[in-house]
Amino acid sequence: MRAGIEWKKFIAVFALASASIVSVDAQKQVIDVDVSKTVSEVQPTMWGIFFEDINFGADGGLYAELVKNRSFEFDVPLMGWHVEKYDKFSNNNESGAVTIVNSDRENNSRYAKITVNNAAQFALINEGFFGMGFKKGLKYNFTVDARTSGDAQTLVVELLNEKNESVGKTTIKVDSKEWKKYNASIDAGATVAKGKLKLGFANQGTVDIDLISLLPTDTWKGTNLRADLVQLLYDLKPGFLRFPGGCIVEGRDLSQRYQWKKTVGERDDRELMINRWNTEFHHRPAPDYFQSFSLGFYEYFKLAEDIGAAPLPILSCGMACQFNTAEMVPLENIDPYIQDALDLIEFANGGPETKWGKLRADMGHPAAFNLKLIGVGNEQWGPEYIERYKVFANAIKTKYPAIKIVSGTGPFPDGELFDYAAKELKQLKADVVDEHYYRDPEWFFANAKRYDSYDRSGPKIFAGEYAAQSKAIASPDNKNNWMCALSEAAFMTGLERNADVVHLASYAPLFAHAEGWQWTPDLIWFNSLQAYATPNYHVQKLFANNKGTHTLSVLSGGKQVAGENQLYASAVIDKNSKEVIVKVVNASAKQQSVQLKIGGAKIAGGGSVTVLASDPEAVNSFNDPTLIKPVEQAITAKKDFDVVVAPRSLSVYKIKLR
Ligand code: AHR
Repeated sequence: MRAGIEWKKFIAVFALASASIVSVDAQKQVIDVDVSKTVSEVQPTMWGIFFEDINFGADGGLYAELVKNRSFEFDVPLMGWHVEKYDKFSNNNESGAVTIVNSDRENNSRYAKITVNNAAQFALINEGFFGMGFKKGLKYNFTVDARTSGDAQTLVVELLNEKNESVGKTTIKVDSKEWKKYNASIDAGATVAKGKLKLGFANQGTVDIDLISLLPTDTWKGTNLRADLVQLLYDLKPGFLRFPGGCIVEGRDLSQRYQWKKTVGERDDRELMINRWNTEFHHRPAPDYFQSFSLGFYEYFKLAEDIGAAPLPILSCGMACQFNTAEMVPLENIDPYIQDALDLIEFANGGPETKWGKLRADMGHPAAFNLKLIGVGNEQWGPEYIERYKVFANAIKTKYPAIKIVSGTGPFPDGELFDYAAKELKQLKADVVDEHYYRDPEWFFANAKRYDSYDRSGPKIFAGEYAAQSKAIASPDNKNNWMCALSEAAFMTGLERNADVVHLASYAPLFAHAEGWQWTPDLIWFNSLQAYATPNYHVQKLFANNKGTHTLSVLSGGKQVAGENQLYASAVIDKNSKEVIVKVVNASAKQQSVQLKIGGAKIAGGGSVTVLASDPEAVNSFNDPTLIKPVEQAITAKKDFDVVVAPRSLSVYKIKLR
């Protein structure tokens, strides 16, 4: 904290220094930006986001449902539910009983039969996802499917605070003998971080209940998504949204692979499945982690559209996770997997006269989602992947020649598996190849030059998953600290400089629940009421919000600015806003004097510099969510002007052209 305050002071002083022209010192380095020649176009997709349901990113996260195990379909049917009689009375049916009954409702195999003997002493309580967040004054929509076999039953629905006191209440009279959906609205009388939902009963008798739901009314533009989390995504101005994974696409075995068709249609009819991250890490077990698919493929496409991102769905290629079972479908049985890909394209782009286009229209989106990219497999490797990729590519290109296919080079950014896949995919003239990099910060600094010498005749690159690991790859001790974010910024100058070959890039993973995470680092951390952006988020945002339209040559002494004197730089022009944007990373612990030369254009004089800087170990947190944040100052730019680049900083200079 103390270090952070000192940094804030430094930034304030630094910003003032940058705002004026400072004298040139002996160590000054010259960075030449040539505006007269654009090097390449920057793809609209350049900086995007990657969403996977890991770390309770979907249920308990982006999807705002507060009730966990809402239809009793978890392996342990009452997981997340507490039957209140057991606390107060002996384990008998004196006050009431809950029986889990098999139903013939499709994809919803159970409901709860409630027998109430002593209404005053019997209730069901749902704990939510690590507690429910309630906001004072906000309305919450409650729904339940219910029926009674005898007299009418009145449900008493309450929001509870941490002390089990009621902070909101409503009643619902269940009088139908057939299944019927009942609705009510509850006002929260207090803000509560770890609340619960209580279902009490006014009368003796039996009632059947299922599909219980409690949703806040302040969701993102009428969707059921958490507004604060979507806002953070929207603010990034992402060029694409890759979904739904990640390893979750593959499944631990093929039966657990992600099947998009099971995630569309009515929310209540979607079949729940275990989340593969449930049991993946012994150090972070999550036995209550399931996928309700409330956030399904329709919602993903809609989210992409709402935040202005191109959709990029990734599909199973018939290979389960090779770190787990490595189960694979024989090639002669691969047709259903390929059909899923073809049908998905129809779901996204087909007219309402087509089977899958009609479903999309019926779900509320008659217009096409304009899908242009589709991914085949996630982190697969070996000849088995290449064989399967070929069959997919052939089928997709035959029916939809305009669709670009994203293939992958496996989990590592180098080594035998990587080299094999890269060579094969080049020979196959693959459109776009996904590379993943989970490495230490030194790797990211060193790899700022990675694409400078990449083969320009091969596939385009999708830097699909990257995050600097402060401790070790996939270590639970990894932190979203400033040094990691800074190293990613240095690496990203290299991606930007090579925008002719790098067409997409995304940090991974995107979200983590503060209590429910399996994997760290992550771009955005949240709990039941709050969310904060990491320094890595701010780096992503500075690049994505300043992506420009074309890259420019940026050299120092005739060489790329890619590590000499620990400086890294890239530059773009935005032909719409008529600005040159220069990104400079100073990885050294000392400030550096730099002369920025903007050649080949007339400078208007105005501009700004936005600086992100901090101590290497500094992190943002719920207590101090903006310890590391961008600081913007106006500058007076000239054709040649001197700046002081702060120690361990990312600076984004925006220079207005005439
Ligand atoms: O981002 C977490 C996991 O890391 C992804 O699911 C996988 O693709 C990678 O190995």
